[in-house]
Amino acid sequence: MKKKALIIGCTSGIGLELTYQMIEDGYIVGGTGKRENVLHDLAAEFKDKFYWCVFNIHDINSIKPTLTHLIKKMHGIDICIIATGIFGDNENLQWGLDEKIIYTNVLGFTAIANFAAHYFLKNDSGHIVGISSLNKYSGSVNHTSFNASKAYISIYLDGLRFRLKKHNIHVTEVCPGFLKVPHFDGFKSMLWVVPVRKAAREILKAIERKKKITYISKRWLIGSWILRVIPHVLKKRLE
Ligand SMILES: NC(=O)c1ccc[n+]([C@@H]2O[C@H](COP(=O)([O-])OP(=O)(O)OC[C@H]3O[C@@H](n4cnc5c(N)ncnc54)[C@H](OP(=O)(O)O)[C@@H]3O)[C@@H](O)[C@H]2O)c1
Repeated sequence: MKKKALIIGCTSGIGLELTYQMIEDGYIVGGTGKRENVLHDLAAEFKDKFYWCVFNIHDINSIKPTLTHLIKKMHGIDICIIATGIFGDNENLQWGLDEKIIYTNVLGFTAIANFAAHYFLKNDSGHIVGISSLNKYSGSVNHTSFNASKAYISIYLDGLRFRLKKHNIHVTEVCPGFLKVPHFDGFKSMLWVVPVRKAAREILKAIERKKKITYISKRWLIGSWILRVIPHVLKKRLE
């Protein structure tokens, strides 16, 4: 039987690339995002392989009914990938941007993960995939709330993994460094940049192997050890 995946945030970047590759691999995909035109085009391109719904994850109360309806149309799901997330350069500590990052990366993320956990608990099987970042390892002058939100995502997924283990529900944390996506065009000081196509392939491998955590690229596994042990003052210089 064909596997079915729900991808929250499938209208660009990693989520969009995962949508293409999973459909190519034979999955049925249910995708969400705010951009209806992109979802519409995907549905036209993939007909009975792609189901969709539009919603803003800030609208917490709409998550449960909207996703329940989408999953019903798909006759169930096996995997839920949370690929939403926003990044923001907040040198001036604007509250508006902090708030948006927290609503998207913390509140919205948790609402989806919680929904998925309850859905999979009913079936005693499933797989939840969340996307953190290497930024989770330290504070940052310009990305205070973004880095904090990624630390939250990692710790949340870690706890969820323990909670759901005995129910045959797997939890994978994806930890990318820098990916080649349009919104990072012109961004300086990016190390070991990975094309988004390659990143999606690595994520799919990690899903198939039910890995607890995967670094994109693999060399960031070593990078992450270094980030954990180097003195704070040196980290600041690397920014
Ligand atoms: N790109 C990188 O180098 C990199 C590195 C480390 C970690 N990450 C993480 O990987 C994840 C995906 O990143 P990406 O680069 O693929 O980002 P992206 O291209 O901006 O895609 C984000 C997706 O999330 C959706 N989204 C954002 N805000 C939303 C909201 N309020 N309601 C509903 N959907 C929303 C977007 O859909 P709409 O625009 O249609 O709403 C889009 O589909 C993020 O968590 C990011 O922090 C990325």
